[in-house]
Amino acid sequence: MKIYSNYSLEKLNTFGIAAKAKAFVEVATEEAFREALARPENPKLILGGGSNMLLTKDLPGLVIKNNILGKAVIRDFIHTVHVGIGGGENWHAFVLWCIKKGYGGVENLSLIPGTVGASPIQNIGAYGVELKDVFLKLEALDIKTGERKIFRLKDCAFAYRDSVFKSKWKGRYAITKVYFRLSKNPKINTSYGAITDTLKTMGIENPGIREISKAVISIRQSKLPDPAQLGNSGSFFKNPVIGKKQFKALQKAYPKLPHYPQASGKIKVPAGWLIEQCGWKGKRVGNTGSHAKQALVLVNYGGASGKEVFNLAKKIIKSVDRKFGVLLTPEVNVF
Ligand code: EPU
Repeated sequence: MKIYSNYSLEKLNTFGIAAKAKAFVEVATEEAFREALARPENPKLILGGGSNMLLTKDLPGLVIKNNILGKAVIRDFIHTVHVGIGGGENWHAFVLWCIKKGYGGVENLSLIPGTVGASPIQNIGAYGVELKDVFLKLEALDIKTGERKIFRLKDCAFAYRDSVFKSKWKGRYAITKVYFRLSKNPKINTSYGAITDTLKTMGIENPGIREISKAVISIRQSKLPDPAQLGNSGSFFKNPVIGKKQFKALQKAYPKLPHYPQASGKIKVPAGWLIEQCGWKGKRVGNTGSHAKQALVLVNYGGASGKEVFNLAKKIIKSVDRKFGVLLTPEVNVF
């Protein structure tokens, strides 16, 4: 097992932050993963696609990059199929594999950066679908003991950009394999308005999963910067969910405030709108800034340090709180 010292993570985080890992190792099998977990360097940090993190410092201990691959059909039923996917697989490559095979369920989640192993941690979601809608179970290793554990849907406490792996068991489990339940007679989901509009523009009348995927890719490419060209981690903040009373007062003052009522009775408001109203959209501060086409995305124009991005995030939080009395919380993991 090759352990690297002072290893640059610049190409391994989509923000493109030039931080280092004190020790670094790549693992391609569960056995190698166990071996890495048993090493003396601590703490252990598991790295997937590095697409939901902001590094504000060099990382101590051992960074373990999960490279466990493999995509397989586990059970084939008449209407559904169960698949088992290695945690190190690229998420979008998995989506394209499903589309090629005609398996529906993840097409709305096209082009999300990152790996399959990281996808349950924040219950990735986009365009009306969340990971929990297709999740069957996952296999993980206990970072402390190396023991294998199975988590089923009910064990994961999935919620909006949240799971047990971000709360109760934060930093405790390394996800090695994820199983999904997909449909062989896919019902497409166009509940998110922009998909219908995009399909219309594309001249598509009877969309299947392939067309939905194309529409989602086109929407994402029009708004979200490509991390290969401009460092970023997607939405930097979560969309805040506020109480009815607070919402009514805000709506009175800002009648155009977009809003999405939740099953809980609370109301989700888009952080991107709040940030734009505070004048941050497209604004550059040093080597960082809020993206011109989507205010919720903070970007690295080149050479930004994690601290610089985090300072901008703090300023944005302060101004949104001052103007609207709403507290934004980061969606990305800040180290
Ligand atoms: N908006 C603005 N200004 C902006 C950005 C957005 O006014 O600069 C308004 C839009 O006009 C719209 C509303 O905010 O009325 C929502 O915008 P959008 O549809 O772009 O989605 P979002 O709420 O900003 C969320 C997810 C994205 C996901 C999209 C589509 C979060 C934190 N973000 O963004 O996920 O792709 O919906 O489902 O929930 C990610 O998590 O990294 C991510 C990109």
